Amino acid sequence: MAIIYREDKKIFQLNTAQTTYLIGLSPEGYVGHIYYGRRLKKEGNNYLLRMKEAPCTPSVNQREKSSFLDRFPMEYPTGGVGDYRESCLDVRGESGSTGCEVFFKSYQITKGKPGLPGLPASFGEPEQVETLEIVCEDDILNLRAVLSYSVFEKYDVITRSVRIENIGEQHLKLEKVYSACLDMDNKDFEMLTLTGSWARERSIQRGRIRYGKQLVSSRRGESSHQEHPFLALVAPDTTQEQGEVYAMNFVYSGNFLAQAELAQFGNVRMVMGIHSEDFCWNLRPGEVFQAPEAVLIYSSEGLGKMTRCFHDFYREHLIRSPYKYGKRPVLINNWEATYFDFNSEKLLDIAREAKKAGIEMLVMDDGWFGKRNFDDNSLGDWFVNEEKITSGLADLVEKVNEIGLAFGIWFEPEMISPDSELYRKHPEWAIQIQGRTPTQCRAQYVLDLSRPEVVDYAYQCVADILHSAPIAYVKWDMNRQLCDIGSSYLNKEAQGELLHRYMLGVYEMQERLVQEFPDLLLENCSGGGARFDPGMLYYSPQIWCSDDVDALERLRIQEGTALIYPLATMGAHVGDCPNHVVGRNTPFETRGHVALAGTFGYELDITKIAQEERDQIPGQVELYHKYHALMQEGDYYRIASWSMEKPYDCWEVAAKDGKEALVTFVQVLAQPNMQSRKIYLHGLAEEADYMLEGTEEIYRGEELMKCGFLIPSEKGDMKSCLYHFICCGGES
Ligand code: DGJ
Repeated sequence: MAIIYREDKKIFQLNTAQTTYLIGLSPEGYVGHIYYGRRLKKEGNNYLLRMKEAPCTPSVNQREKSSFLDRFPMEYPTGGVGDYRESCLDVRGESGSTGCEVFFKSYQITKGKPGLPGLPASFGEPEQVETLEIVCEDDILNLRAVLSYSVFEKYDVITRSVRIENIGEQHLKLEKVYSACLDMDNKDFEMLTLTGSWARERSIQRGRIRYGKQLVSSRRGESSHQEHPFLALVAPDTTQEQGEVYAMNFVYSGNFLAQAELAQFGNVRMVMGIHSEDFCWNLRPGEVFQAPEAVLIYSSEGLGKMTRCFHDFYREHLIRSPYKYGKRPVLINNWEATYFDFNSEKLLDIAREAKKAGIEMLVMDDGWFGKRNFDDNSLGDWFVNEEKITSGLADLVEKVNEIGLAFGIWFEPEMISPDSELYRKHPEWAIQIQGRTPTQCRAQYVLDLSRPEVVDYAYQCVADILHSAPIAYVKWDMNRQLCDIGSSYLNKEAQGELLHRYMLGVYEMQERLVQEFPDLLLENCSGGGARFDPGMLYYSPQIWCSDDVDALERLRIQEGTALIYPLATMGAHVGDCPNHVVGRNTPFETRGHVALAGTFGYELDITKIAQEERDQIPGQVELYHKYHALMQEGDYYRIASWSMEKPYDCWEVAAKDGKEALVTFVQVLAQPNMQSRKIYLHGLAEEADYMLEGTEEIYRGEELMKCGFLIPSEKGDMKSCLYHFICCGGES
């Protein structure tokens, strides 16, 4: 059993294969955090709750509440009653004050894991996951907080979420509802987060935590290019292979906050949830609010172990698409090939040339609808622009299919252009504050998805197009951040609900899409990678990683993304040169090798590129077919990082059975007069022999992992090479 309750000690023990999480109850019913770390062989104890420590001011009272609350490691701290660290739950009652305090009432342990209504969430069969619900109540507010913990034993994952129920007669206002909290003693922790901007998403940053609060967050209505709903606290000596890591990732695509707070006694509080600014949820008698889920991973074997736990877990228990292990078609997208300047003939030219090269799908990007020849109009007018698609969409799809390619299409269903038929008819459907001119971004507004009729309309537009022709793939884009947060549909009191209701609307549309079109390959996208998060992965098995497809920039972007997300989720294409974002030239081969670490496709005008580049495409497509299963299912190891000041970048994917491994090495900068580079492989069988493909060289697994492998130092920047090791004897 993964979850045990010991009544004598009032302790809940949650065990995964290699970790233990202990929760204890104080005599009053406070729910405290005892321990999270390496697996305990036997049962735990609750002395770590520090319940007997004297207050800091001289006092005869050993149990003065105010000092107790300063120290007690809370599982779910509430605001306004004397714990001055960050709270997870702030509630305003009808009195207008905000105090809230919840005490243990009961618990339930069940096999399996219930879904979270309206929200993306991990899932599992009763034999794969157990769930603990700890029911706490505030008897003054008549509020119930149900703390949920789901234990995925095999993957060393614990997920947390919280459900708030109004069981009284008062109208309550939830001003903050976070999803998870970890109260720990500091171990000289460093905080590791992902940061960036458009075209340079998810760079890894790491630094020692200081007294006070350090956070990453988004208030942009999306998980964002800039900061990421992920936070890890790592011991200072932590590397890829060793050291302690406490990681949290939020299964949500809207506003979030992830924070570490180092408090007066060296205690650290790590929290994650929906950002409380711009949030206020009305909870009337009988109503329930469900907070999204946070995924927790503890690793005592460094960041690499954490990464592999996230990858395995998301593949098995978050992504639902039939494509999750299926081969994705190699696609060519016309965005960087044509931007808005295309018509049926141009697309068919691309398709014909693509077919010759072995490409399997043509994706028609932005610009096929309304009167869209530039980005300042027509969002919301989801009917085909017959000046461009001259004989209609069905005919175009048929012709592309006849050429031998599947067809995919781009939408931006959440948006509305001020210059659109839809806006002229329904200006009130745009998110805006009454009386204030709404801020345009990429000349567009955002649809108010808190309004059910808007969700229905926007969804139906997409569905109607998909019913009109055999469309195999949808790229669902979202190209602006939210501001001017106001809805003419919600009443005055409910305006603070808009951002979360917006996300619920997005999720509802995507859910309807995957239910109605179960075979559709859906790729989420947000101006590049502004919504690359676990929430989106629940609906789409792949997400466009970044608008920057330059091979060098992608090294850093894909390294940061792959820290958490499986390689096969990362939308990655070979682009044209000079690269459209940074103007850099990189070898076609390297662009191919870098894109191979993702979904793999092309983002260029195949009719115009140099013949010698076009000639390389069939070989690259072949590589994709050869390695896709290894890339989709294997274990990922980060070997060296250009982003961490190395002149080269290197990663490996090893088959779970140790039968083969593929190493990608990119020499970013050539250095004069250097010896060969030594790298160390992972995930092989020590006793087995491995042949390096294309040579007669044989290496022992142990040798490759312990002693290393030599990569020759070559002339030339941005040169890359693949090394494929295949087990050819010995034990594996
Ligand atoms: C942003 C996406 O990331 C691009 O790939 C492209 O689809 C454009 N939007 C189209 O507007």
